[in-house]
Amino acid sequence: MQQPQRRILVTSALPYANGSIHLGHLLEHIQTDIWVRFQRLRGHTCYSVCADDAHGTPVMLKAQELGITPEEMVAQTRTEHHQDLLDFHVDYDNYYVTHSPENKAFCELIYNRLDEAGYISKRAINQLYDPEKEMFLPDRFVKGTCPNCGAEDQNGDNCDVCGATYSPTELKNPRSVVSGAEPVMKESEHYFFDLPQFEGMLKKWIDDGAIQKEMANKFNEWFEQGLQQWDISRDAPYFGFEIPGAPNKFFYVWVDAPVGYMASFKNYCDKHGIDDAEYWQEGNDTELYHFIGKDISYFHCLFWPAMLEGAGFRKPTGVNIHGFVTVNGAKMSKSKGTFIKGRTYLDHLNPEYLRYYYASKLNDSVVDIDLNLTDLAQKVNADLVGKVVNIASRCASFITKCFDGVLSDKVENPELLKQFQDAQADIAQAFESRHYHKAIRDIMALADKANQYIDTHAPWVTIKDESKQAFTHDVCSMGIHMFRALMVYLSPVLPKLAEQAQAFLNDEFTWDSAQQIKQGHAINKFKPMMQRVELDKIEAMVEASKENLKESKSAAPQQAAGALSQDPISETISFEDFAKVDLRVVTIIHAEAVEKADKLLRLELDLGGETRQVFAGIKSAYEPKDLIGKQTVMVANLAPRKMRFGMSEGMVLAAGPGGTDVFILQPDSGALPGMRVK
Ligand code: 2FM
Ligand code: ZN
Repeated sequence: MQQPQRRILVTSALPYANGSIHLGHLLEHIQTDIWVRFQRLRGHTCYSVCADDAHGTPVMLKAQELGITPEEMVAQTRTEHHQDLLDFHVDYDNYYVTHSPENKAFCELIYNRLDEAGYISKRAINQLYDPEKEMFLPDRFVKGTCPNCGAEDQNGDNCDVCGATYSPTELKNPRSVVSGAEPVMKESEHYFFDLPQFEGMLKKWIDDGAIQKEMANKFNEWFEQGLQQWDISRDAPYFGFEIPGAPNKFFYVWVDAPVGYMASFKNYCDKHGIDDAEYWQEGNDTELYHFIGKDISYFHCLFWPAMLEGAGFRKPTGVNIHGFVTVNGAKMSKSKGTFIKGRTYLDHLNPEYLRYYYASKLNDSVVDIDLNLTDLAQKVNADLVGKVVNIASRCASFITKCFDGVLSDKVENPELLKQFQDAQADIAQAFESRHYHKAIRDIMALADKANQYIDTHAPWVTIKDESKQAFTHDVCSMGIHMFRALMVYLSPVLPKLAEQAQAFLNDEFTWDSAQQIKQGHAINKFKPMMQRVELDKIEAMVEASKENLKESKSAAPQQAAGALSQDPISETISFEDFAKVDLRVVTIIHAEAVEKADKLLRLELDLGGETRQVFAGIKSAYEPKDLIGKQTVMVANLAPRKMRFGMSEGMVLAAGPGGTDVFILQPDSGALPGMRVK
């Protein structure tokens, strides 16, 4: 059974320092923490580190809005993030920050090595520049009119209306989101990292199994499109590290963020007399794993291993990629109260409910995970309260009251207990390979067996029969043995419950504890270990998440970097102009997603005898199937426009801040399609 001891370093993606930890972040931190706890429980050396991702334009601008320095803001956010994670029992050895001396030193070292090896080049590029704010504008800080379809107020890199993608320099009437000024083109010298030189190495690293198969296929598509030189510099003003020998040029935040893994680990190792270098050198038995979301796989599976290789460091053993979290089947929504911050959750619910729920759904795939709050309540109540803890509570009081708190010397059903022990290898394999849902399924199947055993032998009946005292003792002890094995297996997922179980069992778990049977062992008095999930607490949490939004809107109207300036009201139009707009009630008779357009749905609208095709940028807010049969209002006399995906014959009216909050619908109101609205 005893495995050779492994030496492992694990990281989770570093949360940005300009927002709160929410339930989406927590999927990853919990996934990582379960894996790390499992490794430690097995006796391996497993370090885990994380940090706040401090640098970049959004952090810099947010600190300016708040009237504090970025350093002050980052220090506050880091403390808040770290406390949130601790309260979810996420146990990093170190939670640091990328704005650190260790990180600066590593970034300079890596950059200098890459430069010496000929992987860095310079060339001038043209970019939009805010002349008022005197800064270059990242794509998301420019808005304007779509060069393709003419829709106003579109993002710097893609159009919500027609789905076109473009560079911000192609936008018509561009303006800076930061100051509202019209950006000008300005040339500046940028530094580039020669990613294409690493193509062969990266292909091999991916082929050798460093990432999941389904993601490896995605990367093959990227390889086919060809790798590009990577722009690694940003001009001042920028909150980051200055590039050595390049005054006023800073490392792009995505350069120093992954280097932050090295820095956080070094900061920890220096305090504990550990040699961190071993974990970054090729050719020894140390292992390195990064847990990340699928949206940042390009950075972790191309740029990062190439940077490491180019600078003479080892590459990750594995990058473990997960999908996104949806809540109640939809993208997290601030207006629905499903954009839930970690702290808001903690104000209402036990963190172990979420840990258990996520574990019961996690596998090694990148498919999104749905957090259904009713399902969470049912699962926790049925599995943890109704099955696992119930085993102990059904047996413990008899042991305490009738048998001096000492377990029987006899194992009543050794075959059954052996099944609990034999399941261990498969459960271990499931944790190791990140198929946590399988581990949970196996554990719950055992919990069912334990409960059936107790039901069959009904100790609450036999206890009344003097002649069956010894048997009752044996049965209740069996129950406790089985509970103990289950709690050993669950302890990576539920560390607090496992702590309570160890206090009750007068025991200290290792993974091998499940193989030892505690005959004749003294246990402590049973105390209730877990409350049922109450639905009103869930409702209150959702309500409070809506409250958060109201508060943050009134207290700090300019918190979101993307919403720094209000749209000015357009010039007035005459009543005659307004009267020209022909608004009609329509019924949506067909809706489907437009392939290759992130935001578009293709709608077929019934105008009362006439059918129109309209493309609408509402994919983020609606499932196509939910739209069919509903009514909305359209501009029926808008000239048809040719779009990339076909002709759009009108426009549906929508309102809302964007994302999942775009409202176009009413249920079927009984209005006749084609009816004039005004
Ligand atoms: O996407 C993000 O939230 C980034 N802050 C993750 C950085 S991970 C690593 F590279 F530091
Ligand atoms: Zn467009």
